Amino acid sequence: MNIGKHAAVPLVAVIASVLLLGCERPPPQVVQKGYRGLAMEQNYNPRLLEASVKANIPPEAIPAAAPGGPKVTDVYKNVQVLNDLSMTDFTRMMVAATLWVAPKEGCNYCHVPGDFASDNIYTKVVSRRMFQMVRDTNTNWKSHVAVNGVGVTCYTCHRGNPVPKYVWVTDPGPGQPSGMKPTGQNIAASTAAYAALPYDPFTPFLDQANNIRVIGTTALPNGNKTSIKQAEWTYALMMQISDALGVNCTFCHNSRAFSNWSQSTPQRTTAWYAIRHVRDLNQNYIWPLSSVLPDSRKGPYGDPFKISCMTCHQGAYKPLYGAKMLKDYPALMGSAKVDAVPAELAAPVAAPEAAVAAPQKL
Ligand code: HEC
Ligand code: HEC
Ligand code: HEC
Ligand code: HEC
Repeated sequence: MNIGKHAAVPLVAVIASVLLLGCERPPPQVVQKGYRGLAMEQNYNPRLLEASVKANIPPEAIPAAAPGGPKVTDVYKNVQVLNDLSMTDFTRMMVAATLWVAPKEGCNYCHVPGDFASDNIYTKVVSRRMFQMVRDTNTNWKSHVAVNGVGVTCYTCHRGNPVPKYVWVTDPGPGQPSGMKPTGQNIAASTAAYAALPYDPFTPFLDQANNIRVIGTTALPNGNKTSIKQAEWTYALMMQISDALGVNCTFCHNSRAFSNWSQSTPQRTTAWYAIRHVRDLNQNYIWPLSSVLPDSRKGPYGDPFKISCMTCHQGAYKPLYGAKMLKDYPALMGSAKVDAVPAELAAPVAAPEAAVAAPQKL
């Protein structure tokens, strides 16, 4: 009999439990979100939370510009969106945009050197549309981004990078052996929290407007809502949303009745608006930029880098943990008048046919 082998068992158990204990250290903090007894709670590891909070601190506000003085349109020739500002406010906005989007590159990331009025550089054309996008967001999507007055600036997405850190394109998936129809799932994908769920929940739900609801409302099977495959697409999206906000499902749902709105938190309603908002941004602002964006800003199917919940939230339940940056930049609230897609940009293009396995339209 090999005594040594048996004696080793308790020791292994002790080592394993010590190692496993190390996974959750210090003990998680629990924040209750629903009524008592429903287990609608968020679990935060203080150590990880502290790191995330540190990574989401906004920059100091630039001192406000002196009021009054000439209007920007009195001086400059080609200001089409920020044309309601004073010269001093406009200049302050240019300095802020430089710090938020191209701090290393400087003014010339968006300007032809020596000719500020020229539109002969794609980054300026893109930025003008981004100014419109941000004004439209802060004025017309308050139901999502300004419930508590937080709002959106260029920094919310860009954080000092010309291309935001978290963008997505339609995923062609791994190379498939010939003759196999891609299923769009069954590989562990970070986009669905390493589940084998569909790895591109973005294209059907955050660009196209496919139906997310899967739970039947009648006793008998009713159309598409009986399909497990359909439910997997919804779950993939929900995993992605939870990851992007750094929360559990119970941040929004009572898990005994996922579909029931009267048992959901107010955050679920905000998320409903958020989904529509993100579709609007991708369809009406990002797609039309295809005609000016270079190939290096597009995916394998030629679709431009697009926006998801992660682009702004970056793992926080509110971007920058609810820091109120916008109040210091009223220029980004501006007039709500947002023209249709300007003539120099192309009309929205349909998403690629790639999402073969995407959910059916109801
Ligand atoms: C992230 C891109 C970006 C950066 C960086 C940037 N600008 Fe601009 N700039 C723009 C856009 C877009 C416009 C046009 C705005 C509009 O049409 O409402 C503009 C317009 C201007 C104009 C008006 C020119 C005219 O006659 O029409 C001036 C002047 C200007 N910028 C100066 C600056 C200065 C100085 C800096 C550096 C401190 C700077 N910009 C950095 C995007 C940028
Ligand atoms: C354009 C940037 C942006 C994008 C993209 C974005 N959000 Fe938000 N979201 C915000 C801002 C800003 C707030 C904070 C609003 C406030 O409290 O004033 C917010 C708040 C929320 C809240 C409320 C949180 C709370 O504690 O009250 C939810 C829920 C939410 N977003 C869900 C989503 C989902 C889901 C997506 C993707 C479909 C998404 N957001 C994409 C900017 C964004
Ligand atoms: C909701 C997120 C979001 C906000 C807010 C936002 N952007 Fe962007 N921006 C994007 C995305 C996504 C792209 C990627 C498009 C691409 O380049 O393919 C982009 C691209 C750009 C580019 C092109 C960079 C390059 O190298 O191709 C510039 C310049 C830019 N944005 C400027 C701005 C300015 C200025 C603001 C504020 C007025 C702003 N953005 C606000 C999401 C955002
Ligand atoms: C930030 C809020 C939020 C989080 C977190 C969230 N959901 Fe959702 N969920 C929604 C919203 C909003 C809808 C409805 C979307 C619509 O109707 O367009 C929804 C719909 C659903 C549905 C379909 C309900 C029906 O009527 O058929 C299921 C199932 C679901 N979620 C499961 C989950 C699971 C599982 C998780 C965790 C992995 C999760 N959700 C996390 C907001 C959230």
